[in-house]
Amino acid sequence: MKRMLITGKNKLTGTINIGGAKNSAVALLPAAILGSISKIKNVPNISDIDALIDILELLNCKTTLIDSELIIDATNLKNTLIPHKNSNRLRASYYFMGALLGREKYVEIYIPGGCNIGARPIDIHIDGFKALGATVDIDNDKYTLKADKLVGTDIFLRFQSVGATINIMLAATYAEGTTIIHNAAEEAEIINIAEFLNAMGAKITGAGTDCITIEGQQELHGAEISVLPDRIEAGTYIILGALIGDNLCIKNIISKHVEALTTKLKEMGVPLIINDDNIIVSSSDNLNPCNIKTLVYPGFPTDIGQPMSVLLTQANGTSLFEETIWENRMGHVPSLKKMGANIVVNGMSAIINGPTKLHGCEVIATDLRGGAALVLAALIAEGTTIITDVEHILRGYENIIEKLTNVGAKIELDEI
Ligand code: EPZ
Repeated sequence: MKRMLITGKNKLTGTINIGGAKNSAVALLPAAILGSISKIKNVPNISDIDALIDILELLNCKTTLIDSELIIDATNLKNTLIPHKNSNRLRASYYFMGALLGREKYVEIYIPGGCNIGARPIDIHIDGFKALGATVDIDNDKYTLKADKLVGTDIFLRFQSVGATINIMLAATYAEGTTIIHNAAEEAEIINIAEFLNAMGAKITGAGTDCITIEGQQELHGAEISVLPDRIEAGTYIILGALIGDNLCIKNIISKHVEALTTKLKEMGVPLIINDDNIIVSSSDNLNPCNIKTLVYPGFPTDIGQPMSVLLTQANGTSLFEETIWENRMGHVPSLKKMGANIVVNGMSAIINGPTKLHGCEVIATDLRGGAALVLAALIAEGTTIITDVEHILRGYENIIEKLTNVGAKIELDEI
């Protein structure tokens, strides 16, 4: 088991360079099997990527990763069962459903894994595949999807699901005729995937809006794409700057993608200098409380809600933090309370009273973003905090120890 040992209260200054977006990269890698030889640049150095590379190799794709550039040769793909030990390592293994269904019209894969932040059904994905003409059998957590051919159609999503939008887009690239996804998710990552697929020869329009049109093609080729900057990693470190930064520069970002966050930070009185591709942020002793409600894009992102809750513990007064996407995104709260925070949880909402002094102790990372929230809390706490189960954090934050050490944090990783 890996743990982090963090000694708080050191002012952080300098620059943190943001890597490629996890939630885009984890779809781009499976998407690559729709073509031949592709190059994906700006791939983040996180364990979710290692898990996807293992699945690509299992499918007989050749992968070469040098620094942050990944070449995937899917020319000799061999369709095979993706076993539980692979599918369960991360959520995004489900993108092999859409990609393999598109290319091979046949998929055998076990249930995906991922953070325990809610029930996480995939019924919207499955309904989409069925609408395209696939049959789906589920037997003891094993999914078998097959179709003689996929036929484009109108698909209405009952919720703007990121994963379902991308998965249906992947399958529909090889359908006969036109597919229109209505009530599609609008996240920036979806545009990144559509750009890659279009570079491979797909014909997709409307990505980034709630209506995406895909004209099916008979064959796609290889292409090159750069993973867009990770707005969640950026958001996490911007909040860190608001907690304990001294002109901390968060670089290589698209500032527009974190606007929902920066709007709230301005409301709280956080000193920010916003440029197109970087944000400079400092802490303030006088933060206003504020109410946060997570929403689908372009609303306040659910993935930054937990880190944001740490900032709310430092505001002068009572803030309300409401999560609307996942049923179980309060897993970090018991740890924050152990560190001294005053938080009352009621279902998917929390009332946070600040400001409270936090102190170091032993806490548990229960999920990726909850774990990141604890890192932030530890960096402002008096004394030393030990965070256990940090494998969750390493799934989504590349080189986190190095990035934080470089700006003055006292943070170590060890294994027990
Ligand atoms: C993606 O998950 C991200 N994961 C999540 O990031 C992120 O929180 C989420 O989008 C929302 O932005 C990846 O990209 C790998 P959804 P996804 O389908 O696609 C319900 C992180 O911390 N739903 O948009 O799985 C679902 O239960 C992670 O980086 C169904 O009911 O999310 C949830 O309540 C965690 N049936 C809501 O929709 C379905 O078939 C949103 O889910 C699909 C989803």
